[in-house]
Amino acid sequence: MNHSTIPIKVTIVGTGYVGLVTGACLAELGHQVTCLDVDRKKIARLKRGLMPIYEPGLAVLVKKNLKAKRLFFTTDYPKAIRGSLIIMIAVGTPARRDGLADLSYVFQAAKSIARALVDYAVIVDKSTVPVGTAQKVKRIIGQYYQGRFDVVSCPEFLREGSAIKDFMHPDRIVIGGETKKAINLLLDVFKPIRALRLVTDLASAELIKYASNAFLATKISFINEISNICDHVSADVKEVAYGMGLDNRISPSFLKAGIGYGGSCFPKDVSALHQMAGRNGYEFKLLKSVIQVNNLQRQVALRKAKNLLGSLKNKKIGVMGLAFKKNTDDIRESAAIDLIKLLQKAGSVVSAFDPMASLNAKKRLQGVEIARSPYSLAKGQDLLIIATEWPEFRELDWKRIKGLMRSPQLVDGRNLLDQNTMRKLGYKYLGIGR
Ligand code: UGA
Repeated sequence: MNHSTIPIKVTIVGTGYVGLVTGACLAELGHQVTCLDVDRKKIARLKRGLMPIYEPGLAVLVKKNLKAKRLFFTTDYPKAIRGSLIIMIAVGTPARRDGLADLSYVFQAAKSIARALVDYAVIVDKSTVPVGTAQKVKRIIGQYYQGRFDVVSCPEFLREGSAIKDFMHPDRIVIGGETKKAINLLLDVFKPIRALRLVTDLASAELIKYASNAFLATKISFINEISNICDHVSADVKEVAYGMGLDNRISPSFLKAGIGYGGSCFPKDVSALHQMAGRNGYEFKLLKSVIQVNNLQRQVALRKAKNLLGSLKNKKIGVMGLAFKKNTDDIRESAAIDLIKLLQKAGSVVSAFDPMASLNAKKRLQGVEIARSPYSLAKGQDLLIIATEWPEFRELDWKRIKGLMRSPQLVDGRNLLDQNTMRKLGYKYLGIGR
């Protein structure tokens, strides 16, 4: 795809998830993109087309655009910034201990950009940053650079696992800015993408990102609460969610009950918005409950395991899935990892399998045997728990798995399997809210 009419020189600071996907996709649209990072090793590997993360389609896109000389990698600020009209900040904003976002990388990037600036440029906040950050970035740049520049907030809405598709076919592009010149330049950058544009002020653009993630997380915690009621009244949460989702105003998305949300975004952003509201004199009561419900949801799987096994002590339990969701090797804030720790605390002997995240999980887990396949995981287990919604778990030979287990018992923490089929096969099966 290359429908861009005017190629623009863009620098992207930070080659994490957002930076790398944005860089590769903008190059694919025809722009001249330099991805900049202070991590020399990472940049050296990227120059050879080696990805630091797994994201479907990303490696192919990076290699293709490297070859076409539209995508470059560097650690050299002046070299990258010189001649760039658009400079995007896409560095990490990890959660601090108090729940707020740590902005030190953003401010450091702003300072380094300012020192390297020689001409007018638009500095774009791509990282998820609290309301007011764009103004702070503006002040920092103004301290080190006396020429003209603009700051724009352009939050991203990419999902891991479908990031390239989400970039190329977004529901909307949000651009928050203060000058026509900067906004028009951003509109030019995204020109080849067909999507609704929302042009707004800086603070509103910043808040749209947090409000969107917090709302989606609220939907998940809401359906998880409904699933807990379902357990009490013998209703099936899948039926309830389907019935709710048929109402266009509700929509079926993000109504899958399970052991809770994880990842590098929802937990961090929900707590950051909660804290941000508090700091501005408003107690966001709803979000406090969203967080609480999500934390408690891990315990639901534990309770179900206890229902089946009696005591968890010394029981052999196999956890299927370690990633925070399907199609990724990312284990940050993964519900599966939390669950494993709870099981270990209860005295269970835990092993696990994941199609993609085993290597990452090994570094984080102690005393957990990581199996090479779901079948080797199943051998001799008292119970299996599905913790990540990998679609391939549906396609497994569950008859064979039954024969390998010590007792065929299953807690389906993501309601992935058909409960009637599993029961017919002879499993003692418990889902979430069904
Ligand atoms: C999320 C948002 O969906 C993106 O729009 C946003 O750009 C991104 O955060 C970000 O801020 O960077 P992501 O973290 O990749 O994307 O993952 P999601 O697909 O949203 O899933 C998040 C978690 O919710 C996963 O643990 C998933 O298992 C869980 N989930 C999702 C449910 O438990 N139920 C659902 O119905 C949907």
